[in-house]
Amino acid sequence: MKDFTMDEAQPRLLDQTGMGIIGKPLPRRDGKLKVSGTAPYAADTPHPARMAHGVLVRATIPRGRVAGFDRAGIADIDGVIEIVTDARLSRNPTQGMAGEATVQPGDEVHYHGQPIALVVAETFEAARDAAQRLTVRYETTDPGGVSPDKPKDTEIADPETAGDFDAAWGAAEVKVDLEFTTPSHVSAAMEPHAALAEWDGDRVTLKGSQQMLRFNRNELADSLGIDPSKVRILSPYIGGGFGSKLGIGPEAVAACVAAEKLGRPVRVVMPRQTVFDSVLRRSETRQRVRFGATRDGRITAISHDDTVSNLDGESFAEPTTQASQFLYGADGLSFTQTVARISATPAGSVRAPGEAVGMLAFEAALDELADKLGMDPVDLRLKNLPEKNPMTGQPYSARRLADCLTEGAAAFGWADRGAPGSRREGDWLIGMGVASAARSNMLVKSASRVRLHGAHAVVETDMTDIGTGSYTILGQIAAEMLGLPVDAVEVRLGDTDLPGASGSGGSFGASSAGSSTFLAAKEIRERIAEKLGCAADDLTLNDGIARGGNIEKPLAELVDTEIVAEASIEGGKTAESHFSAGFGAHFAEVAVNEWTGEVRVRRMLGVMAMGRILNEKTARSQAIGGMVWGLGSALTEDMQMDRRDGHVVTRDLANYHVASHLDVPSDMVVTFLEERDDMANPIQSKGIGELGISGAGAAIFNAIAHATGARLHDYPATPDKVI
Ligand code: MOS
Repeated sequence: MKDFTMDEAQPRLLDQTGMGIIGKPLPRRDGKLKVSGTAPYAADTPHPARMAHGVLVRATIPRGRVAGFDRAGIADIDGVIEIVTDARLSRNPTQGMAGEATVQPGDEVHYHGQPIALVVAETFEAARDAAQRLTVRYETTDPGGVSPDKPKDTEIADPETAGDFDAAWGAAEVKVDLEFTTPSHVSAAMEPHAALAEWDGDRVTLKGSQQMLRFNRNELADSLGIDPSKVRILSPYIGGGFGSKLGIGPEAVAACVAAEKLGRPVRVVMPRQTVFDSVLRRSETRQRVRFGATRDGRITAISHDDTVSNLDGESFAEPTTQASQFLYGADGLSFTQTVARISATPAGSVRAPGEAVGMLAFEAALDELADKLGMDPVDLRLKNLPEKNPMTGQPYSARRLADCLTEGAAAFGWADRGAPGSRREGDWLIGMGVASAARSNMLVKSASRVRLHGAHAVVETDMTDIGTGSYTILGQIAAEMLGLPVDAVEVRLGDTDLPGASGSGGSFGASSAGSSTFLAAKEIRERIAEKLGCAADDLTLNDGIARGGNIEKPLAELVDTEIVAEASIEGGKTAESHFSAGFGAHFAEVAVNEWTGEVRVRRMLGVMAMGRILNEKTARSQAIGGMVWGLGSALTEDMQMDRRDGHVVTRDLANYHVASHLDVPSDMVVTFLEERDDMANPIQSKGIGELGISGAGAAIFNAIAHATGARLHDYPATPDKVI
């Protein structure tokens, strides 16, 4: 395997065929399988012989100890095999790359909903019945605090600053000082978490629903107390993740532990309610945003302070101010985070951790500054785009935010929007809103293998496709590099036996696994050039024919035995000299019913510049998906926890409202501006999906204010608040 650094990995060859294979809006390779129900998810794979079913038992107290189980009540249920208790079951879900399980396993209960045992039975029905009727004896202790406004403890980080915020704030001619709240969110992926574990001697194979196999293998091994070489994970098809499958969850650990104990395969599928209780949630936030400016609209002071929550000892804290630190310039900037410690379902990454909720507050506060200045919100944003990242001093690698704002405004008809509260159609008040979109861009170490045999190639990596299009774009990259039709490139993913990729998370998957696939294919080109006897730079591959110098040969003849190349790209946030992020602008038009407070989103436009687009269709779908999340967080999504014991109250999709088809306007447009980011990675692309959500909800919130002339500060904008 060849390991490349960013400096060695040049992007020149990505249009060598001249056929525009990269970027082409090809349909997803797994699309038909998924929509026809034939993609085998973890719970759909054919049952191995003697497979048993496990259902997790969750704690019904917020803190204490499990003293024992009373089986009398389940004695009449046929087919119950065992109640598996094991300290390893109560470990918290891991975080993917962070990889630590911070709460010590034991028989202690740290939150309501924590898995404490697995009931295993011959049928799923028997296991579920027993799990529900099993009596658990507890010794309860005082949970300390279960709600972030009455935490057991708080930790305040040192402020991150640039310039002198206090001086700039003191001197500012115009100020806004606002407090916003956002509720907890859940990932609610369409496919609930599921795991099927099977041991062969001291090796275990897990068929699971996971986003980052290279990391998940280590996490699972660590959770089980075995060597990673003894673990294989298969996740060829995944029905969405959105962060909830970045790390190993209780279903995977429980399936492995039970299968080992019973000496037979065990499958654990989480019912939807367990997904809400026992999978990492997004923290609720309380955010104070301060902007100071001159009277003519130059921002001089920016401060964004937040309070988020998590369980004791958990290292993750929603990075709410991430985009606030690089979007706009000021003389003084200050960011402070407080973590409230509570005994409740642990918090972790949910789609676009940080920006998704941070920008809801930040971009809405900026609109209130525009109101106060009497300035157009688009103009205020345009006026305050800094030359360099205001916190780090790095130049931006590629940033077309100004173009996104101006082109978006023109396309959306922004100029005709009128004064706040001035448009009405019958009972409906009409308004338009804008928000910037921004999401930091990452590159994560990733490896791929490419095999070429004649005019047929295979890409192999443990990368996952969580619905994002990995199968398709990796095929496109290899096809372009090798001059083959895309159908002649097979793509194998989702198996830890294959080279370890970045996995899917943080919108870095396509760029990272795409880069390693590009580099492996580039290695193959060098071998072909050698065989042909030409310099690698002179080689063109097209339609299965290799040409170099005066020589021309069909690949089928030239490559009669397989050529195999494996390459990896190093990780890193971005090139150190530059700051790389995706940028865009969201526009929304809403209608607000003046009697009921109901908000209907009529149309949305996202104009985004996110580096090289690898597949216009999958990229657009990702961006639209993100905007739908934005709509949900602006209007409906609200995970409520009981203030007495922290238990999750909204535990299904009837009570936790994700945007449905009727909520989403058919006029939902995403436009990409041409961009190449040379600093981001060898293929000049950037993350997409999470840019779609970042800022989208704030555009809707700002549109509600424009429609009604009144400002809200607590998300979501449900009718009771709007009215
Ligand atoms: Mo994402 S929340 O990093 O899957």
